[in-house]
Amino acid sequence: MKTIIEPFRIKSVEPIQFTTREQREKALDVAGRNVFLLHADDVIIDLLTDSGTGAMSAAQWGAIMQGDESYAGSRSYYRFESVVRDLTGYKHIIPTHQGRAAERILFHNILKPGDIVLNNTHFDTTRANIEVEGAEARDLVVAEGRIPSAVLPFKGNVDLVALEKALREDGDRIRLVMVTITNNSGGGQPVSIENLRGVRALCDRYKRPFFLDACRFAENAYLVKMREPGQEHRTPKEIAQEIFRLADGCTMSAKKDGLANIGGFLAMNDDRWAESCRNLLILTEGFPTYGGLAGYDLEAIAQGLVEVVEEPYLRYRIQSIKYLAEKLDAAGIPTVKPSGGHAVYIDARAMLLHIAPLEYPGIALVNALYVEAGIRCVEIGTVMFGLHADGTETPAPMDLVRLAVPRRLYTQSHIDYVAEAAIEVAKRKDSLTGLRITEAPSALRHFTARFAPVGVRETVGAATR
Ligand code: F0G
Repeated sequence: MKTIIEPFRIKSVEPIQFTTREQREKALDVAGRNVFLLHADDVIIDLLTDSGTGAMSAAQWGAIMQGDESYAGSRSYYRFESVVRDLTGYKHIIPTHQGRAAERILFHNILKPGDIVLNNTHFDTTRANIEVEGAEARDLVVAEGRIPSAVLPFKGNVDLVALEKALREDGDRIRLVMVTITNNSGGGQPVSIENLRGVRALCDRYKRPFFLDACRFAENAYLVKMREPGQEHRTPKEIAQEIFRLADGCTMSAKKDGLANIGGFLAMNDDRWAESCRNLLILTEGFPTYGGLAGYDLEAIAQGLVEVVEEPYLRYRIQSIKYLAEKLDAAGIPTVKPSGGHAVYIDARAMLLHIAPLEYPGIALVNALYVEAGIRCVEIGTVMFGLHADGTETPAPMDLVRLAVPRRLYTQSHIDYVAEAAIEVAKRKDSLTGLRITEAPSALRHFTARFAPVGVRETVGAATR
């Protein structure tokens, strides 16, 4: 059969609350034109993130009832540890309440001011957790990773020439080399095994540790199977196992490819690092056999990690992203090509050429999709990455709008609705206007900034607040 169906039946449903265009215009005004500040009940299809928003399986809900809530030595921890160890091979497995907690604990332990962390592209929380230690987060993605229209299989790859140059020139200041699989901030693009082997070889030569940001390791493994010569006969699990073993450790948000609503872990082989990380874990997260999670969360993650590498699931998952990308493509909407693992990224800068990057074309598009059809998505562009530690602002390398698809949550007709809305907005794109920021914090401003249309003095929302 050519039709790829959702590889599950739906046993439990949650109603969607519908809104009118007028209600959405008002809600957006009150939220300062920042969709992070909306009430989720005012959203019809929520593509803000694929993080913690997926549907759990009957087996995961069943495992939740098996959770052992013992403070220390919980049976659920040992199940979680054995699943993570089978997958990754790492010696020390430290649960955390989510990915950024793993990042915070790792970086606080190993970084000092002036250090450098290299990565294909740092995710925003990763970058912030590095910079808060006074260290530099430097991105070394291959050049084509910054060209949305380039159709190449592994646009998440690390530029190995630039990596070697940095390792040679910056020597001891390089505390860690990381690779984010898939490369979320760069369009959800995968990294090839060949490239990861190259990173490993350089890290060996220059004696630097190598960690993965493994949030979407299963989607990366499946894209390797689809796209990398010689990998097509392996299972996604086998590919993932090899990838983890190329690195010395990982940070992980189980809210993505853990198929769980909360959780994460930090895992590594180094005994000394693990000891200091566990000490900080006890201070901020909890005892090392629960790390800020309930025993039942550890059960849900353990079961999720088993399900996420199953081939029918991954085939459907990657195909459903491709399905949306192809619909937008057919309508002439520019997207990051080829489509990746968890999201479709619209190139808002290319779509809205009349809006300058510092007037935030990504936010203009995010707002238009919300007003049009109640779809919530996120700008990954100049608002997220354009503000620097010294207070200056420059355009980010790309102004993308990410339509992140939660795992196993929406059906094909939901996705058809999203495509229809995007096509309607594209028809009237020349009427969209840029925005300016009326208030914002100095770090991670995209979460709470408030906006007003360029040329308008104040928003209704700000005036009535
Ligand atoms: N690394 C990557 C690549 C991520 O995408 C995320 C989260 C994290 C680390 C942090 O994990 O949320 O569990 O603390 N990304 C979400 C997103 C929030 O929407 O892309 P966390």
